[in-house]
Amino acid sequence: MHRTHTCGELRLSHAGQSVTLSGWVQRSRDLGGMTFIDLRDRYGITQLAFNMETRPELCDQARKLGREFVIKVSGTVVERYSKNANLDTGEIEIDATALEILNASKTPPFTIEDESDGGDDLRMQWRYLDLRRTPLRNNLMLRHRMSIEARKYLDSLGFLEIETPYLIKSTPEGARDFVVPSRMNPGQFYALPQSPQTFKQILMVAGYDRYYQIVRCFRDEDLRADRQPEFTQIDCEMAFVEQEDILNTFEGMVRHLFKTVKGIDIASVPRMTYAEAMRRFGSDKPDIRFGMEFNYLDGLMKGKGFNVFDQSEAVIGIVAQGCASYTRKQVDELTEWVKRPQIGAKGLVYCMCNEDGTFKSSVDKFYSQDDWKAIASAMGANAGDLLLILSGNLASTQKQLNELRLLMGARLGLRKADDFKPLWVIDFPLLEWNEDTGRWFAMHHPFTSPKPEHIALLDTDPGSVNANAYDFVLNGVEIGGGSIRIHDREVQSRMFKLLGFSPEEAQAQFGFLLNAFEYGAPPHGGIAFGFDRFCALFGGQESIRDFIAFPKNNSGRDVMIDAPSSIAKEQLEELGINTRI
Ligand code: AMO
Repeated sequence: MHRTHTCGELRLSHAGQSVTLSGWVQRSRDLGGMTFIDLRDRYGITQLAFNMETRPELCDQARKLGREFVIKVSGTVVERYSKNANLDTGEIEIDATALEILNASKTPPFTIEDESDGGDDLRMQWRYLDLRRTPLRNNLMLRHRMSIEARKYLDSLGFLEIETPYLIKSTPEGARDFVVPSRMNPGQFYALPQSPQTFKQILMVAGYDRYYQIVRCFRDEDLRADRQPEFTQIDCEMAFVEQEDILNTFEGMVRHLFKTVKGIDIASVPRMTYAEAMRRFGSDKPDIRFGMEFNYLDGLMKGKGFNVFDQSEAVIGIVAQGCASYTRKQVDELTEWVKRPQIGAKGLVYCMCNEDGTFKSSVDKFYSQDDWKAIASAMGANAGDLLLILSGNLASTQKQLNELRLLMGARLGLRKADDFKPLWVIDFPLLEWNEDTGRWFAMHHPFTSPKPEHIALLDTDPGSVNANAYDFVLNGVEIGGGSIRIHDREVQSRMFKLLGFSPEEAQAQFGFLLNAFEYGAPPHGGIAFGFDRFCALFGGQESIRDFIAFPKNNSGRDVMIDAPSSIAKEQLEELGINTRI
């Protein structure tokens, strides 16, 4: 028998029992008369004690064990002399009587401790070693718990988990497809799904009125901390529902996950329209853990001879509480920060609201003390606060100030990882105009339904049409998105036309869906949650990478298996792919 117990299991109540444990050598300490070894497995760490006096040979053998050797040890559970309160098993140790080396190990390239000394690339290359570390193990356990609880909740409401294919025709979700050549159909390609969107809608036509799937999705897009080329969604769809039903059903799921996984009771999730979110926070995924809302200052700041503001479409400011003591160097650094190409502001106007009631700004030439008094009062600022003001065209100024707000929120400690503030953002515009291509794009995807009362505007003023589309936002991160769908062939055809598809193109690409709509499509809608992001936020982090067992690095590579990689000429030929390129 390899083990009677796991390394996380034994307590004082087991004292006196003979046990056998198997695991990895985390660490060993040779104190001359005694050698101690920390034995680790998935469940925890147990201290093994080898006594030089009573069992010199065994102790000698133990001293030679290297880190990460796999061993099997038998012995007696004894109460520890000096207890370790940080360890679940910290009250006991095993007085070892037998030791067997099950496998040796090379010295790992980094330390397998909570805080590892390994850089990102090294840890990704030896992912199986990294996965032995407690923080990663906890992340994967959290992920497992979340998937189990999501399934329990959805099952309890009669949702069926139905698998949809991975080798499909491309779905236009807005990113590039990963494609797979078809050997049996030379010159033709499958696409890996960016999401099961069209399939879940077809399942609604087929009558499976509550569907879900915890499913892998593939998108060939630039990577960021919260984006992976393959990621997982909790993908859901319901028939015979309106937006309200969906928001309530999935608010229930979010509440269930918070309660069962984090032990947190979430009050009802507030809702904010897209327009309000943009106006108050300059973002469609506002972090509402803190205020620092936008103040529109055109009325107070234009017409005072400051050309930059006079010529701007919008002048918007925020109040950084308690930051009037910022030094010149600190505000210069903020100015440089907003001027970086990633943010793109032309400059930053600031004003310190001094404790003595005076004001000191970067544009004192144009604004008197009385002007600042009025501005500060309109912004709700107090003595000791710092006003930060940007200007330019409305959309870019909102975007830039959103970034500055998030930065200041983080610097002021207002974005705590264990403070959870969920939000529904609703009433998204249906379309967005793309200047570069000179055409409309679906803001969510082409199957999203316009609000019925806006359908008439589709031909006359498409930009003002709102959709029955919603996002679920948690702490400033877009965790989920969905919509009520178009279920009418006529409206769907009009939508494709608006998006620049000819009737032939629409038929070629989406004929299967348009045809399905002619065979009794029920009203339906759904949502998909980014499962990796959800897990990361529950785990208190913004990067999703360590909540995925085998993620890709920032260049989209799996450095452990070294993929992607070239393939043999013969394989390319078999696939009918031109080998000259
Ligand atoms: P959407 O494209 O908004 O909607 O995706 C849903 C959620 O998936 C997550 N997500 C990602 N997570 C990690 N890496 C990525 N590359 C990535 N891309 C998206 C986000 C996002 O909110 N079919 C629709 C859903 C629907 O309408 O029902 C869809 O896929 O958290």
